[in-house]
Amino acid sequence: MRFFLDTADIEEIRTGLEWGMVDGVTTNPSLIAREGRSYLPTVREIAELVPGPVSGEVLATDYEGMLEQGRRLAELGDNVVVKVPLGPAGLRVVQTLRQEGTLCNVTLCFSAPQALLAAKAGAAYISPFVGRVDDIGGVGMELIAEILTIYRQYDFETEVLVASVRHPEHLLQAALLGAEVATIPFGVLAKLYRHPLTDIGLERFLADWQKTGKTFDD
Ligand code: G3P
Repeated sequence: MRFFLDTADIEEIRTGLEWGMVDGVTTNPSLIAREGRSYLPTVREIAELVPGPVSGEVLATDYEGMLEQGRRLAELGDNVVVKVPLGPAGLRVVQTLRQEGTLCNVTLCFSAPQALLAAKAGAAYISPFVGRVDDIGGVGMELIAEILTIYRQYDFETEVLVASVRHPEHLLQAALLGAEVATIPFGVLAKLYRHPLTDIGLERFLADWQKTGKTFDD
């Protein structure tokens, strides 16, 4: 299972890379806006920093505009994946860019039929937003299970990129279902390392050895 970091914060990305747990990065307009930085230069900097795939999203909503922005994003680096919103125009863009050899990540997916359309269009990734489904009283992980069942049934190559991950339980469920990728906020990645028994256990090990009065070399 690959972990992408869902952020446009360069320091978070540097730390995640240092930890050796970041296989790629996903950005979106909200995340870049939060950094208060310019759009394309931010995607470029992230693409230069991260060896794996980096999703940069188009801001236009019409076919021509999305295509033009998608091509410009793709020019930023070989690892840039163009993120387009679900809809007829977005999925047309996916088909065109695919013919040009550019990978696309279809975002804002909230239903399995939408994911089916994205796979038929040839998306490299589909991004179902589990947290936002939960927010309106649905069960986001059920959406992941449905999409995985459909994709496996037809051998689609589109990978399921679980997005809008809010807590470690989302990650656990995504892994149990066999989703190929999850994009995780830095705070959730940090939480994955933690367990109270790990902290208590370490404290006890060190305290026990300290009682001997000896050092590491003794
Ligand atoms: O990258 C898109 C997605 O992960 C957004 O998450 O928390 O804004 O619903 P969230």
